[in-house]
Amino acid sequence: MFSWKSALRTKPIELSMKEAETSGKKNLARTLGALDLTALGVGAIIGTGIFVLTGVAAANFAGPAVIISFIISGLAAGLAALCYAELASSVPAAGSAYTYTYSSLGEIIAWLVGWNLVLEYLVAAAAVAVGWSGYFSDMLKSVGTPAPAALTLSPWEGGFINLPAVLITLLITWIAIRGTRESAKATKFIVLIKLSVILLFIAVGLFQVKSANWVPFAPFGFTGIMAGAAIVFFAYIGFDAVAAAAEEVKDPKKDLPRGIIASLSISTVLYILVAAILTGMLKYTHLNTPSPISSALLAAGIRWASAFISVGALAGLTSVLIAVIFAQSRVFFAMARDGLLPPLFAAIHPKYKTPYVNTLMVGAAVCLIAAFFPVKIIAEMANIGTLSALAVVSLGVIILRRTRPDLERPFKVPFVPILPGLAMISCLYLMLNLPAATWIRLIIWITIGLAVYFFYGFNHSIMDKLVTPNAQMEKEKKKPFRFRLGKA
Ligand code: ALA
Repeated sequence: MFSWKSALRTKPIELSMKEAETSGKKNLARTLGALDLTALGVGAIIGTGIFVLTGVAAANFAGPAVIISFIISGLAAGLAALCYAELASSVPAAGSAYTYTYSSLGEIIAWLVGWNLVLEYLVAAAAVAVGWSGYFSDMLKSVGTPAPAALTLSPWEGGFINLPAVLITLLITWIAIRGTRESAKATKFIVLIKLSVILLFIAVGLFQVKSANWVPFAPFGFTGIMAGAAIVFFAYIGFDAVAAAAEEVKDPKKDLPRGIIASLSISTVLYILVAAILTGMLKYTHLNTPSPISSALLAAGIRWASAFISVGALAGLTSVLIAVIFAQSRVFFAMARDGLLPPLFAAIHPKYKTPYVNTLMVGAAVCLIAAFFPVKIIAEMANIGTLSALAVVSLGVIILRRTRPDLERPFKVPFVPILPGLAMISCLYLMLNLPAATWIRLIIWITIGLAVYFFYGFNHSIMDKLVTPNAQMEKEKKKPFRFRLGKA
């Protein structure tokens, strides 16, 4: 029978930690260090947001003031990242925001956070695959063999299916199943290429900036800047992927906060520079293309750099896909381990030690979304899912400080509750700046999530099994219901 008391049960942190430890020994292998994590973070963060959406946001919403949009969004992401870092260092278990919420706000809220993380990662992966396809099609065009629009665009844009997006997703799903270490190695190499091409763009583009292009600076005013901030928030998604790797990290308490903060800081600085240079090189009205960065160089007549950037963007977007699919499969893994999803979602490959069944399912879902939807709609959905999860995580920091003051916190957010409060408000504010259609889709998604919880998760939660003998005894004695840890 459903009861709110049970739906709001919290999972003891010690239990999550115990599971994480055993799982580290038995299932997922602990192989990642701080540098791997920073690479994983930068690998997950820098992608479609900067390579594609900067142009979309400048042309349609903010104009050159997209630079300010990036700063505003970066501040919101930074505040939320501090909250993430605190929770990740004190509860380093797979499932990140979902696990933290389970310990602070209760099962049903945790389920919804996990459910919205699914939205974030699945949909973000699809947006990245579509961004990849844009640069790929552009490259084919530049070598004189353009691919037919029917096979490279979604039905919304006059095509039939986005085939390159599907193919790259299939490849990455295979890499993700092959194993964590392999993914981390591939990621580090690709991240180097990605950083190099961004630095190349900054170095070359700097000399092409014409200050006339920055006038008017904010053609759509404050509303435009905020709408721009809400869309370019997509560029910051991914720092949370670092936290999702918690159970594969050698020294998670120290390395997780380092990885999260380092990767977000590096990306933020690069974004602001790229946005400033891009809008200075080309009038914002010309930036609405699938590959604005290489287009700006082409327009300036610097063909060689444009070709390099296209190749680097392709590599960079590939690393985002790896990280996001990786993060998604770990969230599913954690939810299934808690009984809220069928056990199949937690099945570990005997040889590769990765949650392969759920990775396959994630890959299939990403293919479907990427094949048939355009990047802007997909990115907006990813943003609303992420921002809602981040707002709850920030609230979780405040609540856990009160309910578990004793918890060891290797990293602490300063000025609690002010900073987590600000993080929450800024995430909610950015959500309010997303189009109404995105809200409607979010509400539909949450309704489906609640249905899954009521019909499956609530009845299969391991919290039920943990307390069954006690609950039974207590029921007989008609005493109030209580959780106990360890043997019943
Ligand atoms: N932040 C990632 C990107 O921009 C998801 O592609």
